[in-house]
Amino acid sequence: MMEVIHWAGRQVHPDITHEQLAIEIAQIRSMRFSGLSEKGLVVLCLLRGCRITGRESREELINHLKRQEGFFAKIRRKTRRWLGKRVEKMIGDPTQATPPPSQEPVNQPTGPVSGPRPQALREEVEDSGFFGGIANRVKRQADSYVNQKLDEIEARIDRKLDEIDRRLAEWRDKEIANRIRILKITLWASVFVAGVVFDLFVYSGGNETMEPTRPPASVHHAYLTYGPRQYYQKYGFSYRNPHEPIIRELIRQILLTWDPDCSFGLDLAAGSGEVTLAVRDVRPKSLLEGVDPYTHLLYTTRTGLPCLPLSFEDIAAGALRGRCYSVVFCSFALHLLEESRLPGLCWALGEVSDQWVILTPHKRPVIRPQWGWDLKHQMLFQRVRARFYQRTTKR
Ligand SMILES: C[S@@+](CC[C@H](N)C(=O)[O-])C[C@H]1O[C@@H](n2cnc3c(N)ncnc32)[C@H](O)[C@@H]1O
Repeated sequence: MMEVIHWAGRQVHPDITHEQLAIEIAQIRSMRFSGLSEKGLVVLCLLRGCRITGRESREELINHLKRQEGFFAKIRRKTRRWLGKRVEKMIGDPTQATPPPSQEPVNQPTGPVSGPRPQALREEVEDSGFFGGIANRVKRQADSYVNQKLDEIEARIDRKLDEIDRRLAEWRDKEIANRIRILKITLWASVFVAGVVFDLFVYSGGNETMEPTRPPASVHHAYLTYGPRQYYQKYGFSYRNPHEPIIRELIRQILLTWDPDCSFGLDLAAGSGEVTLAVRDVRPKSLLEGVDPYTHLLYTTRTGLPCLPLSFEDIAAGALRGRCYSVVFCSFALHLLEESRLPGLCWALGEVSDQWVILTPHKRPVIRPQWGWDLKHQMLFQRVRARFYQRTTKR
């Protein structure tokens, strides 16, 4: 049945039912049978009401169809055919250029898969009448024009979509490369910052403040600017005494001349262990521990010895009570304590030791005998004083 539909140059929906196909075929009036197979002829005969057995030859089937056409219908068809030829001659018909010319106009064999056969204009006029044929042709031309334009638009849209796809892929690649670069930079920056922080931590001996700035060149000015407490809180992690060589020499002379008992000494306000290291240089077997509220970690890092984080004020309040030292050293520090608090400290130190060595670049502090200490010796080396005190027996 589809073959007949295609042979007649008609188009139907692919899902059309058999009944609808039969109605469609019954409306075909064409009497040009070339290109139609015997099966197609049988279908046509049956739907046009011819009495056939199905064993007829092709010619017999065509004769049946011709006989079935009425006289007036034949006249009308011939008239339309004549009219079709005239119209075709007047306006021309490009359809004829498509299939090779044949005796019968444009009847190409149609297979089950081929599309509708292109009909010549005269054929259309013959089948559908003058107006119907012309209208069909105009409609078909319009359809093909619209289809052609739609195809062009579709191709253009496809090209644009491909272009967008390509650009998106490019953009995505660039974006990924960018993000990887940012990640790398972040990673390296983190490693760098971590390295710097680690260096500072090591440099500061692990001081909690981890202050990255170096101490100012003049300690005197820094004291005036910050005050001793703030100065050591800020720069204590990196403290170094610029007079350390003088301290070393003085300690050497003290040990050789006054011979204090260094079996278990206390380095008070120990800084970075200047006195402790100097004592150990001369008396390697001596044992010392430090006390300093700000530089205790630095002292331990530099000397490898313990250091209590205690201030003069803590000691005056009895923080060392119960401990016992053979000697107390205090170098370059006692002037930092308020004078009013000095007696309290002296008494507290008298409870833990019999000997006290003070190193100072000033005349201060003056330790009075009524505070429990007698001055036994003193020496001056490069404007730094060393004083040796013995605890008074009267207590
Ligand atoms: C000039 S440094 C002397 C350090 C070391 N003894 C030397 O000879 O180089 C003064 C030290 O006193 C400490 N210090 C400051 N205020 C203190 C206080 N109130 N009590 C105890 N120590 C203090 C500081 O931490 C610092 O280590």
